[in-house]
Amino acid sequence: MSDQASPELPADLRERTLAHFENHRRAWRSNAALRTCYGHWYHRIREALPSRDLGPWIEIGSGPGFAREFIPELELTDVVQAPWHARRMSAEALSLDDSSVGALVLFDVLHHVAAPASFFAEAARVLRPGGRIVLCEPYISPVSGLVYGHLHPEPVDMSVDPWEKAAEDVALAKDPFASNQAIPTLIFGRDQGRAFERKFPQLAVVRVERTAGLSYPASGGFSHAPFVPAPLWRGWFGLENLLPEFVFRGLGFRMIVEIERRP
Ligand SMILES: C[S@@+](CC[C@H](N)C(=O)[O-])C[C@H]1O[C@@H](n2cnc3c(N)ncnc32)[C@H](O)[C@@H]1O
Repeated sequence: MSDQASPELPADLRERTLAHFENHRRAWRSNAALRTCYGHWYHRIREALPSRDLGPWIEIGSGPGFAREFIPELELTDVVQAPWHARRMSAEALSLDDSSVGALVLFDVLHHVAAPASFFAEAARVLRPGGRIVLCEPYISPVSGLVYGHLHPEPVDMSVDPWEKAAEDVALAKDPFASNQAIPTLIFGRDQGRAFERKFPQLAVVRVERTAGLSYPASGGFSHAPFVPAPLWRGWFGLENLLPEFVFRGLGFRMIVEIERRP
């Protein structure tokens, strides 16, 4: 186990975070386009997971808990525990035994983690050889950078060093929804993760896939109703998914990253 217990957040931050979960659950119920997007991405995540015989599949930062609809075998966790989570767990101090886990799934979480280097060191510790980390995160492409940078409430700061903070340096009261959407692109989007592999030699970047075009913001996300009528949106989404991957280097909004623990 990690010898660093993850400290409980102050009550006001916990309450604010639980209120975020409830807001997202309400938006989810009323937006079929959003559910279609997530269904598609969780299907891709499911395809990337190793055999369950290797060890449990654990989701970090499950938040509102949508994963349960698509991958029921996932154990849901979060730094703020809600009733649908199996337990409270911080990405930077995983309360898991060494070499005990088959897969760690993070959906829109890495860009909220204040110390990504501490998370990856912990992941290398708890994963069995052949075990995987599967991430689904924002991708900052020329097109999505404009939308994320100007029309989305979360910041995009491409000037930071994603490795600069360690878990010890992070204030205990960090808001779990504080973020920098640029972090996953800075780590995996520029050189297919080669610098990452030099930093974490036990972890191999198996695949970096850019995906999701403008149909994703057109879904309205968690803050708006879809911007186009449902049949039009469904056709648009279907056509976009037929496009080759290289197109999304220019216009993609998401990246799916598969990382494997080396023997
Ligand atoms: C944008 S939400 C994503 C929630 C969910 N995965 C989804 O896609 O709907 C980010 C989540 O990460 C959690 N989180 C933030 N920092 C975390 C950390 N250091 N360890 C674990 N979870 C964290 C937040 O509490 C929140 O639930």
